[in-house]
Amino acid sequence: MPHREKGFLKLFKETNDRLKPVFGCADGEAIILAGTGTTVMDASLTSMFDPEDKVLNIVSGKFSERYMEITQAHGRQSRVLQCEWGARVPVAKVKEILDTENISGVTICHNETSTGVCNVNEIKEIGKIVRAKGGYLLVDAVSSLGGMEMNMDQWDVDVCVSAGQKCFMLPPIIAFMCMNRRAIERMRTRKHRGYFTDPIAYLNDKDKAPYTPPINAVFGLAESLNIMYEEGLQKRYARHHEMALHCRDLTKKLGLRFYPKEEAIMSDVVTGMAVEGFDESAVRKRLAEEYKVNIAGGQGQVKGKIIRVAHMGMVTKENLDYTMQGLGKILAEVRGK
Ligand SMILES: Cc1ncc(COP(=O)(O)O)c(C=O)c1O
Repeated sequence: MPHREKGFLKLFKETNDRLKPVFGCADGEAIILAGTGTTVMDASLTSMFDPEDKVLNIVSGKFSERYMEITQAHGRQSRVLQCEWGARVPVAKVKEILDTENISGVTICHNETSTGVCNVNEIKEIGKIVRAKGGYLLVDAVSSLGGMEMNMDQWDVDVCVSAGQKCFMLPPIIAFMCMNRRAIERMRTRKHRGYFTDPIAYLNDKDKAPYTPPINAVFGLAESLNIMYEEGLQKRYARHHEMALHCRDLTKKLGLRFYPKEEAIMSDVVTGMAVEGFDESAVRKRLAEEYKVNIAGGQGQVKGKIIRVAHMGMVTKENLDYTMQGLGKILAEVRGK
């Protein structure tokens, strides 16, 4: 199907607009790009800030570190707040920096997939502080959007980015971002927003798509949204929370500790478990071979220290029971119990 065909263009425009309630953004615009989560992280950063802007990058895991790397790669001034991975983001420290330095914008990760920590409460507090200072808050919700609530309007989030391959249950090739009115206004005043990832090009050409969109994936995304709205967003978030509680119960039963320091900051879409006394890569390999289940290890500074079980999208309690039973059996063997 050609992407200039009328039927497709109608679907494309509708699908852009149907993303907005998932972002919790009534007064703004959502756009779809070909690419992955990193594409839209890149797009958000380059379109919002100039080289003379200082951006506060809150780094609490591998993906928030990526926002820092993107900031630096594009030659924007990066003021880094290194936080302890797996711990609560220190809001008081963020406030102190915003009170004493000239910061144009802040980047933070909603659901830090690398540690299993969700920064939702911190985002709500930081959003207020950033807005009061006249700055802009950019949030990475790549792994959580559609599985956990995002409310850009209420939480003072100016730009939020996500992608298809996590809670939207799609193959990786489609990404999306949402900007509120004030973010769009700022973008429009900036001269060098990039090219392929310039959000304004997508907004100006919204019912046409400026470049060939990932057509198959747009059909997939439309269907994901059908599934989500049929279930109901609030019900969907509640189901993900239940799955997380179930996974936490199973984790405790196996005698494993959580990687996040507090249960209150744990994610509803991925559970991070601390690796203590076993070789995590050997255990994951056996789980994949013997049970045909892939669970993730750690990246960066948490490599070898964490295993992560995802429970997003259509993962069921039965899937989790099967996974954790297999993990339990393998752990019992390797620990010699
Ligand atoms: C929170 C978060 N941000 C960003 C990314 C990067 O996305 P991608 O690999 O789609 O470029 C990921 C990928 O897992 C992620 O979980």
